Order: sequence, then C-alpha cells, then structure tokens
Amino acid sequence: MKLLSIETSCDDTAISIMEVTGGATNASFKILANVSNSQINIHQPFGGVYPVLAKREHAKNLPILLEEILKQTKLDKKDKPVDVIAVTYGPGLEMCLWEGIVFAKKLAEEWSAGGRIKKVPVIPVNHMEGHVLSVFGKDKGKFKIPPIKFPMLSLLVSGGHTQLVLTKKPARLNSRSGGWMDYEIIGETLDDAVGEAFDKVARMLELPYPGGPHISKLAEEERQKKNKSIIKFPRPMLYSKNFDFSYAGLKTAVLYFLKKNPKADKAQIALEFENAAIECLTYKTAKATEKYKIKTLIVAGGVAANKHLIRELKKVIKKINPIRGHEGSQRPSASNGTRLLFPTQGLSGDNSLMIGIAGYLNFIKNKKKVPKSETIKATGNLRL
Ligand code: KG4
Ligand code: ZN
Repeated sequence: MKLLSIETSCDDTAISIMEVTGGATNASFKILANVSNSQINIHQPFGGVYPVLAKREHAKNLPILLEEILKQTKLDKKDKPVDVIAVTYGPGLEMCLWEGIVFAKKLAEEWSAGGRIKKVPVIPVNHMEGHVLSVFGKDKGKFKIPPIKFPMLSLLVSGGHTQLVLTKKPARLNSRSGGWMDYEIIGETLDDAVGEAFDKVARMLELPYPGGPHISKLAEEERQKKNKSIIKFPRPMLYSKNFDFSYAGLKTAVLYFLKKNPKADKAQIALEFENAAIECLTYKTAKATEKYKIKTLIVAGGVAANKHLIRELKKVIKKINPIRGHEGSQRPSASNGTRLLFPTQGLSGDNSLMIGIAGYLNFIKNKKKVPKSETIKATGNLRL
C-alpha cells in the first residue's frame, strides 16, 4: 500500500510517500519521494524558532510540497493517490503540529469522499517514536526493519529532548502500549535539552542558528589540531545515582566564563563545551547499557549527527563488551554484543520518513482500532 507521511512539529515541513508491505516482523519500505522545506533562514535572525512564523510557513508550504511530491511520483490527486496517511501529533510546537494534522485530515476526507468503500485512515505518530525508529530507515531506495535484539535502549537527543528510553520486549500485536513498542523513560533532562544547550552556547559565541553543527565543527577542528582543552566546564549530574541529565548549569558556566573572559578563544570554548555535554550523555548511557544488559543501543534525534558523540559511544560500548567487541554501524551485524545504531545523515534531524516508518508499524499493529480522525489532537507535551 502507499503511505503519505507528514512532519510539521518544529521548523521543518516534510512530506514523503512510501510503498509499504509486510507485517510487524517483515515490514518493508520503498521510498517513492521525499520532499521538505527547512525554515532555518527564516528563524536565524531570531536565534531560535519563532512559532508564529513557523506555523505560517507550514501552512504555506504543505500544499506546495504536496503538489511537488505528486508530480515526482506521478500520482493523481483526484484518484486517491495513497491508502494511509501518517502525521506527527506531538511533541512539538502545538500551533505547528495543528497545521500538519488539519492538512492530513483534509486530504483523508477528500480522498475518502465520493462513495469510496475504503476510507483513508489517518495515523497519529509520536515524533519521538519516529526518532527511535529512524535508525532503521534510509533516505533513498528500499529498506526493511531488521530483527531487533532486546533489551533495547534509546538515547534521544534533540533540541527539545534528552532521554534514555528502555524497551524490554518486542512489540506485540494489539498490545495496549501507545506506540509500536513499549517505552519506559528511565532518565531525562531536568532542565534544558542537550541540543538546546548547544544552540544557546552557539548564540553566546555569535554562531548562527541552529548552533549544534557550528559548535561541533569548531570543536572538531580544534581536536584535529591536537589542541587540548585548557578550559574546564562542569559535567552536571555526572555521578548522580540516576539516569537523569542537566544542562542549565553547563550553559550558565559558559556564560559566566565568557563574561569574565570576553576575549577567550571561541574554538577552545566550543571544544570544552562539547566534551562536557557529550561526556554526560555517554557516561549515563554506558551505565544504563551495563545495568540493563542492553543488546541494541539506539542514538537518535538531531544531536545524533554529532561525530564526537558517536565516536565516544563506540568507545564505551567496546569497554562494556571487550571480548565480543563491537562496531557502530547503521546496518545491524550478527554480533552478540551491544549493537549501536544511529541514523543516516538525512534521518537524524526532523524528517517525514521516520514518521512514515512509525506510522506504518503502528497501523499494522493496531489495524482494528484506527482512531477516528476527529479525535486526533496536537499534543505539544506528548510523552513516549
Ligand atoms: O531532532 P531535531 O532536528 O529537532 C528537534 O526535534 O528538536 O534536533 C535539532 C537539534 C538542534 O538543537 C541542533 O543544534 C542539534 O539538533 N544538532 C546538533 C548537531 N546537528 C544538529 N547538535 C550537536 N552536534 C551536531 N552535529
Ligand atoms: Zn525531532
């Protein structure tokens, strides 16, 4: 069947169409087209996402992107081009989420009209489940969901989230969990998200929005020059006895340091900030991996694009599994140790392919109880 997926939770408007087949254990995806519009240039002058502008851009771009994707796939708008629609309903900026949801409902209505026997169902998708499942996708061609070994741990790192999520068992058809699998949040940030800290520190250093990639680039260059960090920032909650995180103190430490040392080297600050921010993530992730004897470790969300994070995680995983060893890869291997999975470049930031993956898996799991589309509501603070 053909599945259209829509993502508008923040500052990316994205639509894709995939041909999807198979059941929960052999779901198979073929990307027919994938289009998106990033609003980075619009929000850059504000140093962050300006919600009213974001909403307006989504409203403007959704119909344009739909026309574009129908043209690319040569599907006819008047002839029920897809069988299912998946749309993000949270978490995110509520007014932005509504744009995607209302658009999805309108299309479903249009394509279900005219005495058609089969209605086009709208599947509400949790954006964070999309990030978790993004590691199984590709940004071109075909892919399948491979067998997953449990327990599974997901480190979700984005502009709004820093969470460690435990999944003990595989999905069961028709189980009552709100998603494809069961997710238990075992730790999360008590204040700022790690991506948010990257963005705020970037702003202090007068780097453009979103700041994560810019900080990371400066820090990587400094490492390549073999320059060691001469500044010391705190690693908040590193040794706390739980799996929670905190980034507000680290951000404030950078602010005070800059006030005292306005002429300090930006690259040195970026290096030490990145070291500190990433060490908190890898330390707690390693502890949880050990405690729960994790077989599959997923890292997803915008910050999963951070090279230092993936490199450091590979190191800690090797330490946990010294005999079997392990290599982080996007493709699962036959290793018996902890397998590290992270998304390809095109799937780490917000995208609609991950919404399509999660939407389809939820659809086949809960086929008998597709929600009535009028019950789907934007839920800004939706939890996994
Ligand atoms: O998942 P995402 O695209 O949107 C949200 O759902 O928040 O994540 C965006 C976040 C931003 O804070 C951005 O600065 C951060 O991901 N980011 C990075 C890198 N690339 C994106 N942070 C650190 N290093 C990167 N290479
Ligand atoms: Zn996201």
